[in-house]
Amino acid sequence: MLEVSGLDVLLGDYQALWGARLAVERGEMVALLGPNGSGKSTLMNSVSGLLRPRAGAITFEGEPIAGLPAHRIVGRGIAHVLERRRLFPYLSVRQNVWLGGYHAAARGAREAEYQRVAELFPIVAARAGQPAHTLSGGEQQMVAIARGLMARPRLLMIDEPFLGLAPQVVAHLTEAIRRINRDGVTLLFIEQNVELALSIAARGYVLESGRTVVDGRSAELLRSPEVRRIFLGG
Ligand SMILES: Nc1ncnc2c1ncn2[C@@H]1O[C@H](COP(=O)(O)OP(=O)(O)O)[C@@H](O)[C@H]1O
Ligand SMILES: [Mg+2]
Repeated sequence: MLEVSGLDVLLGDYQALWGARLAVERGEMVALLGPNGSGKSTLMNSVSGLLRPRAGAITFEGEPIAGLPAHRIVGRGIAHVLERRRLFPYLSVRQNVWLGGYHAAARGAREAEYQRVAELFPIVAARAGQPAHTLSGGEQQMVAIARGLMARPRLLMIDEPFLGLAPQVVAHLTEAIRRINRDGVTLLFIEQNVELALSIAARGYVLESGRTVVDGRSAELLRSPEVRRIFLGG
C-alpha cells in the first residue's frame, strides 16, 4: 500500500534521512521505531507532504506521491496525526474534529463520519463544545485521532500517540487504535518504547541516525540483539 525507498531529506543544512525505507501492506498495523532524533517524524512528514524529499521514492497504492502538496495527499487517502497533536486550542472539540473532513472527498460525508468518530471516542461527544486546550493529554490525543479519521483515510499515520500518557490511558487508546485497524484502516504509528510498540504492531521498522537499520515481525525484533543495542546502548 505504502512504499518508501531511498529517502533523503534535508532540514535546512542538516540531512535527517539517509536512504530511509519502509513498506506497509494494506490492513497492517506497523510501528516506526527509533531513538529520539533518529528521523521518525521526518519520515512521516515526508509521506504526508509536509516535507519535500531531496531524493527517493514514495508510492501509495501504486502511485508516486513524493513532493505532492499535503492537501493532495490527504485527498489520496492518507491522514496524519501530528506529533504533539497540534489541535487548535481555542476552537471547540467539535470544530477541531470537523476540520479533519475538509477535503472534497470527505466533505459530503462529514455528519455521518462525525457520528462514527464520536461513537468510537465518546469524549468527542461528551466535550463537543469545550475548547480543546481544556482537555487532558489523553483526551486531546483522542480528538486528534478523531480529526484524522474525519478525512476518511485508508492509511492513518500517528506520530507518538502514547507520549506522556498514563498506563490506563495508553490501554484505552490502544483498544481504539486496534478497532480502527479492524474496521479496515491501515495503520502506521511512531513510538519510542519498543515493548509497547511491538505489543501493538505486527511489524516494525527501526531508524537510527536517519537510516532504516532493522525491520521485521514484532516477535523477531523483540529478540534482536541489534534492536537491543540501539535502544539499550549495549
Ligand atoms: N527544523 C530543523 N532543522 C534542523 N534540524 C532539525 C529540524 N527539526 C529536526 N531536526 C533534527 O533532525 C533530526 C530528526 O528529527 P525528527 O525526525 O524530528 O526525529 P524523531 O522524530 O525520530 O525524534 C533530529 O536530529 C533533529 O534534531
Ligand atoms: Mg518525532
